Amino acid sequence: MNILIIGNGGREHAFAWKISQSSRCNKLFVAPGNAGTAAHATNVPIAVDNFEALGKFCTEQAISLVVVGPEAPLVKGIRDYFEQNPDLKNILIVGPGKKGAQLEGSKDFSKQFMLRNGVPTAKAKTFQANEVNDALQYLDTCKPPIVLKADGLAAGKGVIITPDLDEAKATIREMLVDKKFGEASAKVLIEEFLSGIELSVFVLTDGKDYVILPEAKDYKRIGEGDTGPNTGGMGAISPVPFADEAFMKKVEDRIIKPTIAGLHKENIDYKGFIFIGLMNCNGDPLVIEYNARMGDPETQAVLPRIKNDFVDLLVDAASGNLNGKKVESATEFAATVVMVSGGYPADYPKGKTINGLDATNPALVFHAGSKQTNNQIITDGGRVLAITGYGADIQAAREKAYAGVAKLSWEGVYFRKDIGMDLMKQN
Ligand code: AMP
Ligand code: GLY
Repeated sequence: MNILIIGNGGREHAFAWKISQSSRCNKLFVAPGNAGTAAHATNVPIAVDNFEALGKFCTEQAISLVVVGPEAPLVKGIRDYFEQNPDLKNILIVGPGKKGAQLEGSKDFSKQFMLRNGVPTAKAKTFQANEVNDALQYLDTCKPPIVLKADGLAAGKGVIITPDLDEAKATIREMLVDKKFGEASAKVLIEEFLSGIELSVFVLTDGKDYVILPEAKDYKRIGEGDTGPNTGGMGAISPVPFADEAFMKKVEDRIIKPTIAGLHKENIDYKGFIFIGLMNCNGDPLVIEYNARMGDPETQAVLPRIKNDFVDLLVDAASGNLNGKKVESATEFAATVVMVSGGYPADYPKGKTINGLDATNPALVFHAGSKQTNNQIITDGGRVLAITGYGADIQAAREKAYAGVAKLSWEGVYFRKDIGMDLMKQN
């Protein structure tokens, strides 16, 4: 079958790499893709939210399966657009409709969904602009650190955590009254702070049945030892030693089952990935957030460990046939190290020549913010490459990944050297 992947990050390069290995994949396209996806697929210069052009392309190229990478087109309703169009409605899509994507698109919706369906999560209260005084009074009753969350999508910047009550008060005013994140902060959640270790759990569902993909740990902060500002993710490890059978059983019974049952009960026909960001609080999993997509860079660590034909899983999810299916995962560990432009997550330069891409690499090299020019590949974003090493334990996987990193460079390149080290100490 002909397949279209939508997106242009490292996650989409990993999708393209994995999907291109399936005997069921005939022609593979990525819109818009990056310099890495071009090695496995044909890049198509169409923006992820240009539904009309994407639909037309799907008809022209006889696409049977569309895999939606990022959240923006899901929240904007790409599935609804295809379903409502007679020429497109038979195309299989991996990704929920607009309603289901609200699990990620609205933190207020997802919090209420969790409460309605008995999914354990941090306590929270939502306030709108006309309730700013109530919000300020409520803050006086909260125990710091204080967690403020913009309701809508805010490019990963909508969560502010501060130990300082006055700063929290100033920030909530900026969010609600000055619309710091535009419409995304028309509502703000004040949430209880959870302490523990985070885990990314990935579920692929057809709306009734589900499979659980390998879990991963993401490294969100820019600095070693988890310091400095949050980023999209600086690295990932899969599997995660503390996510043992007993812990994952709690995750399945307390979180995954009620989530899928809740979607069904609320008539949300959800076909796609659910990424559950959770906190392990002394052995109990509590949900921090849902995402309606796979994680980045977690995908680059998770997919290399999946032994199934990935297209089989995607088609089964999109066509409602996951009943009885199982994910077979390798016992090996994967370690992913993200190489970023100097300055990221604040301002950074683009257009730097990436050296070393032609050399053989002991690791998998996934591109994110890269661009092919006439005769070279240059940096074109904050997160530029994600390098995945594979091995019998975390140490071996890390060594492979960092050996891969060592072959690559550009002016100002930065990466964390401690990916996975915290998990080795736990073992
Ligand atoms: P999000 O944008 O929802 O992924 O949040 C960004 C990060 O903020 C999460 O990955 C956590 O590290 C942190 N975070 C969010 N909510 C909480 C919470 N209730 N308690 C502690 N940390 C949180
Ligand atoms: N790595 C976290 C995310 O994809 O949101």
